Amino acid sequence: FRFDIAKELVRVIASPNHNEDVIFPLIENKYPKDGGSGEFVVAVPRLKLPGISADVIAKNLESKFTPDARFTSIKADGVFLKFVYNPAYLRDRLIPRVLSQAETYGQNSSGYGKVSLVEFSSPNIAKPFHVGHLRSTIIGNFIENTLRANGWTTVTINYLGDWGKQYGLLAVGYNKYGHAAKLEADPIRHLFEVYVAINNDASEDASIHDDARNYFARMEEGDPVSLELWQKFVDLSIVKYREIYSRVNVGFDVYSGESKYSAKLMRGVVDRLKELDLLKLDQGAQIVDLNAYKLGGAIIEKSNGGMMYLSRDVAAAIARQKEYKFDNMVYVVGAQQDFHFKQLFKILELMGLPWAEKCQHVNFGMIKSKDGNMSTRKGTVVFLEDILDAVQESMLAVMKKNEAKFAQIVNPTAVADTIGITGIMIQDMGARRNKDYEFNWDRMLAFEGDTGPYLQYAHTRLCSIERKADFEVGPHVNVSVLTEPVAAALVDCIAMYPDVVREAGVQLEPCTIVSYAFRLSHAVSNCVEALYVMNQPQEIAAARLALYKAARITLGNALRALGIVPLERM
Ligand code: ARG
Repeated sequence: FRFDIAKELVRVIASPNHNEDVIFPLIENKYPKDGGSGEFVVAVPRLKLPGISADVIAKNLESKFTPDARFTSIKADGVFLKFVYNPAYLRDRLIPRVLSQAETYGQNSSGYGKVSLVEFSSPNIAKPFHVGHLRSTIIGNFIENTLRANGWTTVTINYLGDWGKQYGLLAVGYNKYGHAAKLEADPIRHLFEVYVAINNDASEDASIHDDARNYFARMEEGDPVSLELWQKFVDLSIVKYREIYSRVNVGFDVYSGESKYSAKLMRGVVDRLKELDLLKLDQGAQIVDLNAYKLGGAIIEKSNGGMMYLSRDVAAAIARQKEYKFDNMVYVVGAQQDFHFKQLFKILELMGLPWAEKCQHVNFGMIKSKDGNMSTRKGTVVFLEDILDAVQESMLAVMKKNEAKFAQIVNPTAVADTIGITGIMIQDMGARRNKDYEFNWDRMLAFEGDTGPYLQYAHTRLCSIERKADFEVGPHVNVSVLTEPVAAALVDCIAMYPDVVREAGVQLEPCTIVSYAFRLSHAVSNCVEALYVMNQPQEIAAARLALYKAARITLGNALRALGIVPLERM
């Protein structure tokens, strides 16, 4: 909101015929540490105004300025312009606006008409859902929500690992160890058991590998009998995945795994690369030589005719562009695959595909732990479901300590689940995604400090104020009695949210929104401790309630953008 006024102001005082669209994204809005002072700073060089040096322009703008209802002063400070706006102006416009926009407050239409494909999670059937998949799920979901809040149309894809020789091995294993009832009941776990067992056998008996290879060869040839079993594994696994994802509030528009890219399609890619003279024979394998770009030799087809993970990604990208005509495609995958995506994008570029530059790898660091897995107090977990169960259990134990409050909660298990999951998500998204972090059960589930439970607590506190007030407020409320500095600070913070959404949509860094949510929650806490709604004159009570409602809406929107369900009670 403030960003809008700044834009308007700079446009007016800078140059009457300057293109607004140029100025708009260039304003650097530095938030004062103690919100509410009405100050913010614009760096003149970022305005890219034509003419003399930036400090002269700043001085010039300062001298042209006359105070109005919105801005009380402008001071030039070197290349910076220090604006002081009128907090009353902001307050009177902002609160009604937030109340009427409600769940859409903070959204913008900058991505309107554009399609973004967001590929994330992408676990491998029959293998553990490891921490990399967990991070991809959380961050990918955030990216989807944030792009949508910026007006984009999104299509979310789960690129399941569901093809390759290992699925031949899995089928051989299933024929030996499989159990139809177990498969139905919990396909992910059962297939993992089978996979571990047959891998064990195969390490002693090499002929099992031949069987697996033959089985997979039949799958590739389209043999219906071999495919039937495999299809069953995939279908049942997807049912189970859907169930688990819904617990973390994640859904996919399409499950389009590696298997969707047929041998024929891959052959087409190889032929095309040949046609473009991009392939070269290297020890029997077909490679694209990327040494000129310090990306080594990328194997496309092995000497035995087998295709690679990379070749499949080339085929998939081309097929996706055909199908969705995307304006941008995001791959949310750990930084261990940086090199893979560099190779992929370079190959698409060398193929002369104009949309190659629209592909983006959004990477992230690792979750560190002793053995590379997440460990609960009870031991190592390899399944997402176990992690979710473990946080739910811990949260329930914490909640039970306050018996009176616990008795009031309608569905304590669901609430515990949500708080626990919020804990995981906030821990995951709290720092820049490229940073590694340690999975810390105690810290992420604590109610003090910058944790998920703390954010949920801030939200429920605001909900409880609204519940306890015996009246409602709407957008026409008069908020002019809110003159206290703590209220101005909260207004200031609420006003930042649209800028935060915009920035998050560009950087695709969840911590942008997480840090904001904490900042807002602290401003809320300062305010509710000082300004009560209960037992106040009606006019004051209504204005404060309106402020808290605006804060609750904003915090709720921020949490939803992160993929978190804001709680009303806990
Ligand atoms: N299934 C892969 C893995 O678990 C991740 C897939 C990433 N996406 C891609 N288009 N390569 O490592």
